[in-house]
Amino acid sequence: MRIGVLTSGGDCPGLNAVIRSVVHHGVVDHGDEIVGFLDGWKGMIDGVYRPLGLDDVSGLLTRGGTILGSAREERDKVRAAVPEMAQKLLDWGIDAVIPIGGEGTLTAARMFHEAGVPVVGVPKTIDNDIASTDVTFGFDTAVGVAAEALDRLTTTAESHQRIVIVEVMGRHTGWIALHSGMASGAHAILLPERPFRMAELCERIQARFDRGKKFALVVVAEGAAPVEGDMTFDTGATDIYGHQRFAGAARQLAGELERRIGIEARAVILGHVQRGGVPTAYDRVLATRFGWHAVEAVHAGRFGHMTALRGTDITLVPLAEAVTELKTVPANRIGEAEAVL
Ligand code: F6P
Repeated sequence: MRIGVLTSGGDCPGLNAVIRSVVHHGVVDHGDEIVGFLDGWKGMIDGVYRPLGLDDVSGLLTRGGTILGSAREERDKVRAAVPEMAQKLLDWGIDAVIPIGGEGTLTAARMFHEAGVPVVGVPKTIDNDIASTDVTFGFDTAVGVAAEALDRLTTTAESHQRIVIVEVMGRHTGWIALHSGMASGAHAILLPERPFRMAELCERIQARFDRGKKFALVVVAEGAAPVEGDMTFDTGATDIYGHQRFAGAARQLAGELERRIGIEARAVILGHVQRGGVPTAYDRVLATRFGWHAVEAVHAGRFGHMTALRGTDITLVPLAEAVTELKTVPANRIGEAEAVL
């Protein structure tokens, strides 16, 4: 078969490992020809692709980013391309497409599938917020990067007797904040799932200093916000793709904490460092398994599905079910974290 693969949306450690796995399994075990569309859906829509052989994917397992390039999907361009796409792929001799991406990419994959494009999706996001898979690759790496930064910030916070507020990624969900905060023993973790009250945060930190502790570490997910009317808070604006661009919760919190309790505070925004670099062993294995199963699904004709991790097994779930809702942090997980703050 001739299979096209593409990476779309924000990049994520492990994308290259999926591409490598698709090429190895397809070429070696099935005699497939694999092509890579460049720069996300754009490459597929415009027919910009390159052949991918074993030499092209050599050394990719540990490499962050994506050799195919990625882009946020331009929704209008994707929608406009849907009716013609199945025929175009036939003309190019491409039998199936494996798009690797997050919520937006998988939604677009579903649209293409419903219009006759043979698609098998592979989920990815450092945010770990895709409901139909237990874990997405990239998350473990992002948590590791954040936890390492938090450990480093703990020692400097202690030296200077400061509050350090660290902002991690997580637009709609606080998985990275929860896991990195728990792993590093943060003293407060603020998540989009539970709007915070500034007075409570101040009390918690003041009480810690009153007990003789000389520093505090706060982790805030970029999408966290106070309960309505609690404090003046800028939540940012939407960008050209309609995505929320946050105004810097950490900076706003640092200013407010200093004003209210008079303890010196610093804000650190980790940003895209969480998405870059070498994937962890866990993410390499998950990405490789997803790639293998996506190729198997193509050969089994299981189009309109995506790979998913359930427990320790990889399964296939219909794209129609995959992106109906986000996986938010449940209250019991917040409770567990609060017990050790
Ligand atoms: O979806 C993953 C994510 O890392 C979000 O947590 C973050 O808000 C967003 O990507 C930022 O992406 P970019 O700046 O690359 O558009």
